[in-house]
Amino acid sequence: MTVPQPPEPIPGARLLFSLDPSVSHLNHGSFGAVPIGVQRAQQRLRDEMEANPLRFFTQGLVDRITHTRRHLAAFLGADPDGTALVGNATAGAAVVLQSLGLHPGDEVLTTDHGYGAVAFSVERECRRTGAVSRTLPVPLAATDEEVVEIIRAGLRPGRTRLLIVDQITSPTARLFPTAAIVGVAREHGVPVLVDAAHAPGMLPITVASIGADFWVGNLHKWAYAPRGTAALVVAEPWRERIQPLVVSWEQDTGFPTRVEWQATLDYTPWLAAPAGLFTLRSLGLDRVRAHNAALAAYGQRVVGDALGVPPADLPAPGGPTVAMRLIPLPSGIATTIDAATALRTRIADQLAAEVSVSGWNGRGWLRLCGQVYNTPDEYDRLAARLPALLARG
Ligand SMILES: Cc1ncc(COP(=O)(O)O)c(C=O)c1O
Repeated sequence: MTVPQPPEPIPGARLLFSLDPSVSHLNHGSFGAVPIGVQRAQQRLRDEMEANPLRFFTQGLVDRITHTRRHLAAFLGADPDGTALVGNATAGAAVVLQSLGLHPGDEVLTTDHGYGAVAFSVERECRRTGAVSRTLPVPLAATDEEVVEIIRAGLRPGRTRLLIVDQITSPTARLFPTAAIVGVAREHGVPVLVDAAHAPGMLPITVASIGADFWVGNLHKWAYAPRGTAALVVAEPWRERIQPLVVSWEQDTGFPTRVEWQATLDYTPWLAAPAGLFTLRSLGLDRVRAHNAALAAYGQRVVGDALGVPPADLPAPGGPTVAMRLIPLPSGIATTIDAATALRTRIADQLAAEVSVSGWNGRGWLRLCGQVYNTPDEYDRLAARLPALLARG
């Protein structure tokens, strides 16, 4: 079987990172990796903070955050006045959920491709308010049109108070047609939260054109920002209703500052985030995206071949820039969270490869990412050794 050619490496890119060279880091999607230059930029900010904490926090920090937010919003194609920096996508989703003012009988609708922690957040908010949550099953191989139709049929206008859809799904590495889904939900008067945890940096997005009521995306995954950097974008009619998770001194300032200012915290990840965008742009945004997606596709094919998965059974993510790919594991392996975690740990310990393993829809899945610091031989090595590890049970 012919495997597609891997992309040309981006010269010197691996040296931008401080990753342990004895490990294949094939799971950028979970926690990202921060380039050394961005780590340094953040360290300089921390040095400034530690030289005079009082001055750092009280003289101009809110303005510096505002300035940074505008810079990041421009990158995302989002309205800067509707954008708030938050710690991560999970926090952004929680801000939205607890600002909705759900009532008994209201419903929050999600899909079975959603992120587990966000699902827990939905459950807690429903328990707190008497609302209910409902999960729509969406087949992995559904076309974009089918996805939109499934969601259209699943909406209960007047009752569904929020639909949550992921722009790129975590367990299934799928691109969802978010603009079309938002369009359908809008026709039925249902607000939408787009969980775009993986989108910034990976996809060429213009958040404003998606038209969602709420959109949240991490910059600390594919946009090389220090961890703790995410953006919550809120449509104009909702902004006044958005409440922070922690009430602090900027409460009366309104959105977005009251969401951003969460008392004494380390805000240096946000201030250093533009250095991540600088790194991306220096490497070439389009070049990085094409490289990462092609390398993930290569990895999917070589590992899929090694496990005897026909190419037609390898899920296609639905876009040329999605840098995460799924491989189905032999049936019965890693079908539960505990079994998936145990397998991921064995792969890390025995094969020196960091990958994502999850159980989804009764089946175990391996998720591989492509990033500028990865090389084709890392996937080749995994492919050569994984079948024996799985056979050992
Ligand atoms: C779709 C999705 N939502 C939310 C998250 C959570 O991101 P964080 O841990 O930065 O909040 C992730 C993390 O991978 C994700 O994939």
